[in-house]
Amino acid sequence: MSAKIYPVLKSAKSRTLLDNTTYLKWYEESISDPAKFWGKHGKRIDWFKPYTKVKNTSFKGKVSIKWYEDGLTNVSYNCIDRHLKTHGEKTAIIWEGDNPYIDKKITYNQLYEQVCRLANVLKKHGVKKGDRVTIYMPMIPEASYAMLACARIGAIHSVVFGGFSPDALAGRIVDCESTFVITCDEGVRGGKPVPLKENTDTAIDIAAKQHVIVNKVLVVRRTGGKIGWAPGRDLWYHQETATVKPHCEPAKMKAEDPLFILYTSGSTGKPKGVLHTTGGYLVYASMTHEYVFDYRDGDIYWCTADVGWVTGHSYIVYGPLANAATTVMFEGVPNFPDAGRFWEVIDKHKVNVFYTAPTAIRSLMGAGDDFVKRASRSSLRLLGSVGEPINPEAWEWYYNVVGDQKSPIVDTWWQTETGGILITPLPGATDLKPGSATRPFFGVQPQLVDNEGNVLEGAADGNLCITDSWPGQMRTIYGDHARFGQTYFATYKGKYFTGDGCRRDEDGYYWITGRVDDVLNVSGHRLGTAEVESALVSHHLVSEAAVVGYPHPIKGQGIYCYVSLMAGEIGNDELRQALVKHVRSEIGPIATPDKIQFAPGLPKTRSGKIMRRILRKIAEDDFGALGDTSTLADPAVVDDLIANRQNKA
Ligand code: PRX
Repeated sequence: MSAKIYPVLKSAKSRTLLDNTTYLKWYEESISDPAKFWGKHGKRIDWFKPYTKVKNTSFKGKVSIKWYEDGLTNVSYNCIDRHLKTHGEKTAIIWEGDNPYIDKKITYNQLYEQVCRLANVLKKHGVKKGDRVTIYMPMIPEASYAMLACARIGAIHSVVFGGFSPDALAGRIVDCESTFVITCDEGVRGGKPVPLKENTDTAIDIAAKQHVIVNKVLVVRRTGGKIGWAPGRDLWYHQETATVKPHCEPAKMKAEDPLFILYTSGSTGKPKGVLHTTGGYLVYASMTHEYVFDYRDGDIYWCTADVGWVTGHSYIVYGPLANAATTVMFEGVPNFPDAGRFWEVIDKHKVNVFYTAPTAIRSLMGAGDDFVKRASRSSLRLLGSVGEPINPEAWEWYYNVVGDQKSPIVDTWWQTETGGILITPLPGATDLKPGSATRPFFGVQPQLVDNEGNVLEGAADGNLCITDSWPGQMRTIYGDHARFGQTYFATYKGKYFTGDGCRRDEDGYYWITGRVDDVLNVSGHRLGTAEVESALVSHHLVSEAAVVGYPHPIKGQGIYCYVSLMAGEIGNDELRQALVKHVRSEIGPIATPDKIQFAPGLPKTRSGKIMRRILRKIAEDDFGALGDTSTLADPAVVDDLIANRQNKA
């Protein structure tokens, strides 16, 4: 089957002069001599002490990844100070509030002052290089000030998405032994308050029981809502920042000093603290931001992600600010006050580049074209997609209706672990195929392997690995380097295994088919089935649970839970609702189960292993071909599961 091809738009010719010939030439250079290529491009950021070593990486044995290791730099300096001479009065951040009548512009000069003040507050309260600071914030400018202030003094930030529950927040505080938290009284989303300070208080109590004591909580006043207060521990952001100096020297950081930890779900156990470092990360984030989004001075750039996810780190804060861009930060949600919000904001701020997720595109597509057409969208030049595979119908709608066939779409594939975009079209260089992330970025060497690790050549379907390092790659799992090696480099020895399935077509284009491990992608959010299972079994009436994904028209994947109850308990709708509530309070609303099936037994092999393949098929309502069930301890279990399935057509 050959897919429809959308040739490079003449009108959208890349202004970076990166046509296809240049792409191929640069790509070849980046692969044949990575040290030379990245040695040259590492200079796109400023260094206090230039590097002489570029690449020192090994995926074999004890995995070790170092880029620019003898260079000294600072991320906050690169995102702010170096722009001040030429771009001081340029808008760095356009903040668009949840309420459509509230917005704010922050210049680079103002950003400098805010970040310096906050950095001084951190120092005043004893935060030092290498300390971990947890940031639990809504989408307000102070969230980016907080990240940059940490970077300025060399503290490691751990941003926890504001939609996570107190339990999830506590787990992350404990894992990295963070004793300083920056939060806000309440967030606001879709007109509703989010009790961030209250959640923080609860999380701190939970953490204390695990012997991690949070000493200070810095609180931004966003709504003025009523909150609890612990004198001596809690501090008002506006009071603290008012009493310190507006200048703070950026710390001289080694390229391999940690910049941030970001927790993400894997197929087993608790979320992993993905650690990114300073120099290579910033080079990669800024370079991909420039070339993938064809970024030029003067562009208004809007990525709709949340700073709680890696997309927010690399493509709202670090990439764009390193490039002196104007980045839009949106506090609200796509359907508030109505489904026309995105398109209105595009007109209001004259957005040129718009980067969002397939789940938002699908849900807005469902709201109808009128909402889109109400806005002119005449400023748009480029559209982006990230987070999950985009189905061709949604792609076509995005291209035809939102983009009026004038803006190329960059379908960018990457991960929390990769730090930046790895597979993507480049506008001006790449013909597009709806649903394909197309070709690797410079320096990225994808490889497909079968389940036994045999390398697949040409057009093929397999497991996606990357065979050599790129500067934005994660360096370790915080506090557990052995788990890092085990998780990413042991399945296919000596290769970084992404956990994704992928097809390569006859033109060498890559088509991500989704996770091949027990990780779900729900509305572009990554969630381990094991996390949802452990939340379910922590309910006192549940004895066992198995969670799988199933295709969902808007969310991409829905969460399907098989639940066995304690002896004598009966499953009913009331208990279903209680379990949904329980999972939401254990993890957060992103983990809300879509279907719960009460199952007297789960399909297990004689050795007690749950056969998830069967559970997935039944959840997909596709049980005609269950494959071999002869190894099951009790094949009759399957008949019951089929009869009571919750996703009947
Ligand atoms: O399965 C892939 C999917 O999202 C996973 C990474 O999730 P996370 O670390 O939360 O980062 C999301 C934002 C970078 C990947 O393993 N994914 C991400 N982008 C795409 C995608 N799947 C298909 N196409 C994409 N463009």
